[in-house]
Amino acid sequence: MPSFPSYRPRRLRRTEALRRLVRETWLDPSQFVLPLFVRSGAGIRQPIESMPGVAQTSVDELVRDAREAASLGIGGVLLFGIPDHKDAVGSEAWNDDAPVQQAIRALKHDVPELVIITDVCLCEYTDHGHCGVVRNGDVDNDATLELLAKESVSHARAGADIIAPSDMMDGRVRAIRSALDAEGFSSAAILSYAAKYAGPFYGPFREAAESTPQFGDRRSYQMDAGNSDEALREVLLDIEEGADMVMVKPAGPFLDIIHRVKTETGYPVAAYQVSGEFAMIQAAAERGWIDRERVMMESLVGIRRAGAQIILTYFAFDAAALL
Ligand code: PBG
Repeated sequence: MPSFPSYRPRRLRRTEALRRLVRETWLDPSQFVLPLFVRSGAGIRQPIESMPGVAQTSVDELVRDAREAASLGIGGVLLFGIPDHKDAVGSEAWNDDAPVQQAIRALKHDVPELVIITDVCLCEYTDHGHCGVVRNGDVDNDATLELLAKESVSHARAGADIIAPSDMMDGRVRAIRSALDAEGFSSAAILSYAAKYAGPFYGPFREAAESTPQFGDRRSYQMDAGNSDEALREVLLDIEEGADMVMVKPAGPFLDIIHRVKTETGYPVAAYQVSGEFAMIQAAAERGWIDRERVMMESLVGIRRAGAQIILTYFAFDAAALL
């Protein structure tokens, strides 16, 4: 490799045209997935305090947001449901007439160009806020699988393109794949939240989804932040069980994991820029401490450069509009 003064890296940074020509990574709205929170009713848009600009909406308002997303070229939406009532097993999760299922049908009809991804988990639906059935103070893995499978089938029946289990139970991908196939939904894809870390970055989301655990935390099922080899094992296990795409979550603090998963599997990798990552940027920008748009775009480019093809982000609207 030539060295200074024959090689001058600054030559290719002189103008925006030159910089653009040699840029290795860029963003496109088609890579973004916008998370949406749906509840029952009509004309409802209930802001989430810790996530400025994000709201829980009724199906009609959600369709409006989704239309706008599609017109900006955003690739897809990720749906979370807020049920009318919760119980110990989260039975609203597989109610074919619950808000998520209604939203899927409405979107399929009104905005068919959008990819519909549904978050499959029980924490929004259980009265204790854990991601599975609780027995003797612990989340019962195997008893939960059957319920996740029922929830997934209900979403597929409504028309979901991609099922995204976020519960982190062992064996859920296989259970869901078998149930979908048995019910005739072999073309519904699975995006597993494969390497999902337990931690403080989901704080604002729990207000959004009303899913804070009523006792304990999620460390017995979500991953420990110090682990990287284990993320690979989780990912390979999900792929072996039938996952079509895998997700790393959160994104910003786990860029090395995104990179490893991409290079070591070659599978489509999604990364979730979660509520806490979003809230930090919003809060600092509100105080005038950072340039909101530039920090937002750089946070997204970093996730892409690490190896994520798909970014789930609350900035999808704003970033797509800027592009
Ligand atoms: C459900 C789920 C969570 C998120 C996505 N799906 C919360 C959690 O695991 O506690 C977090 C998303 C975010 O913080 O933006 N299990």
